[in-house]
This record gives sequence, structure tokens and C-alpha cells, in this order.
Amino acid sequence: MKSMFPKAIVLPLTFFCATLFAEPIEPQVINETQRDHFVSALLKKMTLDEKIGQLRLISVGPETPKSTIKEMIEKGQVGAIFNTVTRPDIRVMQDQVMQLSRLKIPLFFAYDVVHGQRTIFPIPLGLAASWDTKAVATVGRISALEAAQDGLNMTWAPMVDVSHEPRWGRSSEGFGEDTYLTSIMGKTMVEAMQGNSPADRNSVMTSVKHFALYGAVEGGREYNSVDMSPQQMFQHYLPPYQTALQAGSGGVMVSLNAINGVPATANHWLLTDLLRHQWHFKGITVSDHGAIKELINHGVASDPADAVRIAIKAGIDMSMSDQYYSQYLPGLVKSGAVTVAEVDNATRHVLNVKYDMGLFRDAYRHLGPVGSDPQDTNAEERLHRAQARDVAAKSLVLLKNWHNVLPLKKQGTIALIGPLADSQRDIMGSWSAAGVAKQSVTLLQGMREAVANRATLLYARGSNITDNAKVQAFLNLYEPAVVVDSRSAKQLRDEAVATAKKADVVVMAVGESQGMAHEASSRSDIRLPKAQRDLITAVKATGKPLILVLMNGRALDITQQDGQAEGILETWFSGTEGGHAISDVLFGDVNPSGKLPVTFPRSVGQLPLYYNHLPTGRPYDFTHPNKYTSHYFDINNSPLYPFGFGLSYTTFSVSPITLASISSEQGVKAASVTVTNSGKRAGSTIVQLYLHDPVASISRPVKELKAFQKIQLQPGESKTVTFALSKNDLGFWNQQMKWVVEPGEFDVMIGTDSVHTETKSFTYP
Ligand code: BGC
Repeated sequence: MKSMFPKAIVLPLTFFCATLFAEPIEPQVINETQRDHFVSALLKKMTLDEKIGQLRLISVGPETPKSTIKEMIEKGQVGAIFNTVTRPDIRVMQDQVMQLSRLKIPLFFAYDVVHGQRTIFPIPLGLAASWDTKAVATVGRISALEAAQDGLNMTWAPMVDVSHEPRWGRSSEGFGEDTYLTSIMGKTMVEAMQGNSPADRNSVMTSVKHFALYGAVEGGREYNSVDMSPQQMFQHYLPPYQTALQAGSGGVMVSLNAINGVPATANHWLLTDLLRHQWHFKGITVSDHGAIKELINHGVASDPADAVRIAIKAGIDMSMSDQYYSQYLPGLVKSGAVTVAEVDNATRHVLNVKYDMGLFRDAYRHLGPVGSDPQDTNAEERLHRAQARDVAAKSLVLLKNWHNVLPLKKQGTIALIGPLADSQRDIMGSWSAAGVAKQSVTLLQGMREAVANRATLLYARGSNITDNAKVQAFLNLYEPAVVVDSRSAKQLRDEAVATAKKADVVVMAVGESQGMAHEASSRSDIRLPKAQRDLITAVKATGKPLILVLMNGRALDITQQDGQAEGILETWFSGTEGGHAISDVLFGDVNPSGKLPVTFPRSVGQLPLYYNHLPTGRPYDFTHPNKYTSHYFDINNSPLYPFGFGLSYTTFSVSPITLASISSEQGVKAASVTVTNSGKRAGSTIVQLYLHDPVASISRPVKELKAFQKIQLQPGESKTVTFALSKNDLGFWNQQMKWVVEPGEFDVMIGTDSVHTETKSFTYP
């Protein structure tokens, strides 16, 4: 029987500190026949209420305090818990199961471990910007280790929602706009987090989210609906989910949006026909927070019982954070509206994953014996700082470097200005799990350590994140998340200008606060907030060389600042070690190698703007402008910075492409280029291969990423990079929704970004 988990993956062992391998990985091959026997036998022992109990996923909170949860555990009314993140707290609940419940079916414990658990790594958008699968595997492995060491069994990650929408706050959580890059990153995360098996001491089960198409919400407005052609869906949006599932993810979290009129939570086609029957997924589906209730608001369920009936029949196994399954399933089964077989089916999936987590063999698998809990959950020794610094540096993208203003020299006087320069909280980004802001390194701290006593470092805050009182109130709705300085905007700015005047060069840390790029943080204006724009303009007026360090969770419109700053470094939200990593790059101790995983527009009005768009019948050619062509009359069609773009402190040249035939069944061509480091420093770059099918039965994108490789080169060194193109790379979903590879000519483009490429054509077959 085929296991749902992948074979062992090869990880960069040298990368990890000893603690990662302190306990041997216990190889475990899931025998599905044995599991089916075990689960079937257990199901026979369960009452209907106990089965329904397994479908309930809740967190401790005002509605379900610990005492209520204890009662529920005793009665077998809860299957899993999320948002409890320490071993002592988790142990209490697992003890209650083992001591008080009739069948002693262990709970599993889940959490949003999206880019780290205790050690916070760059946000996923930043991880994608590294284009470095080894680095991302390191993040997955360490996150899983820290989560499993905290007693967790499952993470609500990775998020593989392709998005062309920077207005959407959750673009920060995904791997960008491209299908292939997202697929590779998602797969890497799943394999790294689950390891040989989620039952291993240092692994957790993943739950790929949000199935499906959440990244395409209309207008980038959170929780909005999605209307999409089947071709677009299968070509560009569904592959990352499928790839992550093929990599063995045990879980799927279902999205909150509707797809072509049918909410994902109610979508039988999506959750059963596609996921189960076509993709053969054997794991668990979990609804998103309160999604079953929301079927009423979507206008597809008449009342709560109807919502439950629709959700379970569509294929939702476990319901997150609502009591509807428990309240209404018993009655629905009694009336015959839902069958026992349907409840059994969902319960079986929950028990299957508990089996795969090893919980039936040892309910304390990720807890260890009593007395073994860490004394201090947030102890410094539990962090993986060296790896966090290394990965963060790899995620930074150098967007502009006028006359080599960077790297900075550790000499003279440097001014650091900006509301994000010393914010420990913001640098961690959204969904920073159990990370502790106090433990993160700000840019101010990083630069202070870097210059030590070799240069003078001055600091001024310069502005608030925003002066818009409404936005401040939004950001501080639940807790004081953004600090609002009591000084006036003018006072803050004057201090910054005076500071800048004393310096040889100015570095400004500007962008978004953590809460501006999060769930429920859609923006209609993706520029820097006005307070920061004004600050930059005032500092620019001093005439000092200006370097912007951007901290943000989406592609921004930085058109104005692009005209003001000599240097721009995109740093996303870079995590616990962000301040060190950014300093490493600013001062040239690390040569930047990141590349944009999203297109940076010139204006919000260009959206959606993405590199792999379709051609039009009236393409605009700026060398021969023609009114009746596809363009805006008030702005260029081109982006400010294209997908795949990023500079280095050295330069790379790419030779013309050579093509060779591959004789294997699926192989088509081997495309090679020689890349040379034509500058004076060692550096890494990402060699990217794009493909275009100029004539096909349906319009095909102007280019699509099909492969990439990260290479490192010494000054003057050359390397030949070869990509094998397969037949599959040439295929697409045609008008009849059949996967086809049509014979004809294809263009291969290779370069170090999506615009500046070498091109060569070949004919297939
Ligand atoms: C989010 C999910 C998340 C869940 C649990 C929801 O609001 O949409 O991505 O996993 O909460 O925290």
C-alpha cells in the first residue's frame, strides 16, 4: 500500500545545529491496510456522539474556557485543539483524555506555524524571494522541530494561495504570484515539516491552505468571492495545492471564499470530486474559522442545520471553531438528512491522521514524559538564531543601487531614520506564531552591532507608521500594536531632518506595520502611508545619499520613493534575526541574491499586474504608440520592478542559449546557458527559465516560469546551467479542459529576471 508520506528527503544536514538531530528520526511507513483495520475497529466501538465529537476543533477562549473543554473531553465531544502552544498546557488536556474519556482517543494539537514557531523566519513572501529551496527546507525543518518540541502535532501551513493581488493583506503569507515558484516552495515546506513522518519526534503534519483560490479574491478585498475560468484555475491556481498534497501533506484547510458562486466549504466538486476522487487525497479536510456558519451569509444555507448538512456532504471533515457540527449533526442523522456513513467517513479521516501522527501508539509522542517540559518555553537556547539570520539575508532583494551607493562602509556618520527602524514586533511579520517580540533584533540593534565603534550611528524615529487616526485605531483594535508617538508630525520630522544633516548617508526603515499585511488587512492604496512619504521627502531635501530599507508584506507602489532614493532594499518582514541580516547586506558582509516573487506595480490602478499575463489582440508598443492598443493613457503598462528582479553587489552575464534534444520518453530539450560573474565580488544569483507557446489553440501566457537554479560564482567564474524541459512543461488545459501538448514552435527564455532574457526557439516534437 502506498503511504501518504514521502520518502526521506535530503536536507542540508550541516546547516542544522546539533539539537535538531539530538533524537534519531524514527522511520515510519504507514501501512494503510493496518491503519484501515485499526480505524474500522475503533469506529465500531464509537457512539454517534463520540464520532461527532471527533469532528470538532476548538481553541481555549472566552466561549470555551478550560473548564468547559475538560467537560467536553470527558464526554468525547472534542477531537482536536488549536492555539494552545506549550507542553504543560497541552499535557493537561491530553491527560484529561487519557484519564476521563471512555475511548481515550488522543487529541491532536495544531497551530499556525507559518514561518517559524519560537524562532521567526522571514514571512513566506520573503522566503519565496530567496528562491532557495535549501533555505526554505531549513525553515520548515526548524519550525517543525520547535513546534513538535512544544507538543504540537499539526500546523496550518503552508499557505500556497497564488495571488496577483497586493491589495490583499494575506499576500504576505503566500509565496507570491507564480504557480511554479509557489508549488516548489509549498512542496519544500511540506516535505521538510513532515520529514519521514509527522509522527517523528521533530516533525509535524502540515495542512495546506486555503483550498482553494483564496488569493484571487475580487479586488483583493478580504473574504470576497472568486470567479474564474476552469483553464485559469487548473493552469495557474490549483497546481500548488496539488503539488503540496502529492508531497504528502496530511491536511487541507478549506478557504473562506466562494468559487464561481459556490463557497469552498459547500463545494462538493472541490472537496470530493476533485480532492478525493481525482487527486486521491486520503487525509483530513478542516474548515476555516467559523466557515460553516458563514454558509448562511453566503446565501447557500437557510439555517444552521442546513449549513451543517451542506458542509459535511460537500466534504468538510472537521469544523473549526463553531459548535454547529455538535449541535446539528445528531438531529440531521436522526432525520436521515445526513447518513451515518457520511459521519463515519469524516470521522475516519480524523482518526486516520491521528494514526499517522502516531498518537494511538503514544498519545504523548510530542510531549515526552512528565517532568520533561522545558523550564522556560521562551529560553534563548531554544532559538535557532544562526539559521534565521542566514535565511533572512537570503530573502532580501536589492531593488536599486544607484552608483553603488551600497554596500555602506563602516565609517563616518550614518543616520538611521524611520518608524520601523526599532520595532521588534513589526519585523516579525504577521502570523509570527509563538515568537516573542522581545527576542527579535531590530535594524537599529543590528546596525549598532555592525558598526560597533568604527562609525557613528545616529537614530531618529521620524514619523509614526501612519498619522491617520482611523488606521491607527484599526491597527490597535485588539491591543496596542503600533506605537503612536505623542510628538507632532512636524516635531518628529524636524528631528529626523536635523539628524540626517549630521550624517554622511541616511538609511530609512519604512513600510508597513505587522498588522497592515495580515488577515483582514486589505488596502485600496498600496503606497507608503502619507506620514512616511512626507518624512522621506523631507529627509531627501537634505541632499544626503538616501537608502530605503522597506519592511512590508506585499508588493507596494513605491514609484515616488524610487525617484527619491539612491538605494532600495526590500526586506519584507525578516523575522527574529532580521536586524542582523539586513545589516549584513547593507554593509556588504552578505551579497544580496533575492529576487522578487511578485511584480511591483507603478500604481494601484494597474492591478492586477503579473508577469505571466495573456497577450491581447492589440498589444501596446511604446516605440510605436498607437491609441487603439491595450494600455492606459496615463501610465506605462510596465511594472516598476518586474517579477524575478533583484540586483547584486556584483554583476552577472548570461550567454546565448544552447538547446539539445533529450531522447527520453518525456524529455524534450536541454536548455543551457553559461552564466559569468562579470563583477568584482563573489555572489549568488537565480537563473530563471521561462517558456512561451506563441501559437496554440488558446492564447498562452507571454511567458511562464518553468525552472530555476540558484548558483554561486566567484569573480570571473563561469558556470553552465542546464535545464531539462519535459513534455509536461509544454502542456496546458485546452478549451475542452483536456491537458494537451500541441506540436509547434516554443520560445525558451533564460535570464536572471523575467524581463532581461536570452531567447531561443525550438519545434516540438
Ligand atoms: C485563518 C486561517 C488560520 C485560522 C486559525 C483563520 O482565520 O484564515 O489561515 O489557520 O484562522 O488560526
